[in-house]
Amino acid sequence: MRVGLFDSGIGGLTILNTIVKNMKNIEFFYVADTLFAPYGEKDTKEILKRCDDITNYLINEHKIDILVVACNTATSISIKHLREKYKSLPIIGVEPALKPAIEFSKTKSIAILATPSTINGSKYKELVEKLSNNQELNLYHIACSGLAKKIEEADIEESSLNLFLKNYLEELRDKNIDSVVLGCTHYPIIKNSIKSFFENDTKLYDSADAIAKRLKELIKDKIKSEKEQRVTILYSSKINFDMVNIILKDCKYDLRECKI
Ligand code: DGL
Repeated sequence: MRVGLFDSGIGGLTILNTIVKNMKNIEFFYVADTLFAPYGEKDTKEILKRCDDITNYLINEHKIDILVVACNTATSISIKHLREKYKSLPIIGVEPALKPAIEFSKTKSIAILATPSTINGSKYKELVEKLSNNQELNLYHIACSGLAKKIEEADIEESSLNLFLKNYLEELRDKNIDSVVLGCTHYPIIKNSIKSFFENDTKLYDSADAIAKRLKELIKDKIKSEKEQRVTILYSSKINFDMVNIILKDCKYDLRECKI
């Protein structure tokens, strides 16, 4: 069983890291599309084409049986197109974990942090509409322009990161928020810094566990137990090796450049 994943860079590794812990006997091929990162502020058509090219590459070069789009932005822009075009390939996408946040929030004041593309995309607007369901909710949508890039470049020294985050999060301090949705797969990497802007008992939500669960359900009957787990990280331009190591600290992997 071969599972392909991709993201604009290291963000989707937060999903891969959760998946590999739970799933043996699978070969994983993860594309970090650093050549085109960040996706969140780029032209939609350009990203759609890129997602298509990467899917094609994973199918042709690595013979994947299933695809995980490990990026909220890419999912929001391309999942419909990819599912229509690659009909026989099961595709799992990531969306902001708004559902559990609404379910478990007591104050019903929730902050959702994501890239501008995700927040402004129609897919996210539909999700909000579907989940709001006539409830009294205070949802604070924060399009964190530049944050994924900063994380990608490992520019996350505490004081400069806090100064950067202050621009987005300061206004949320007195809003009685008890739940924060990390709607970009890069953000869990700096979750402690984000958390420091909120009350101690504020809960942060990301989508990694839900994706791992979904993948497990989809492939449970197809895994051949004699195969060893193999994880290959493919990057399309330069990547920060230290960051990869930090995120995948308990996992053995190969790392190599790819041409897409
Ligand atoms: N990690 C991505 C996401 O989940 C994309 C970040 C970016 O490239 O802008 O949205």
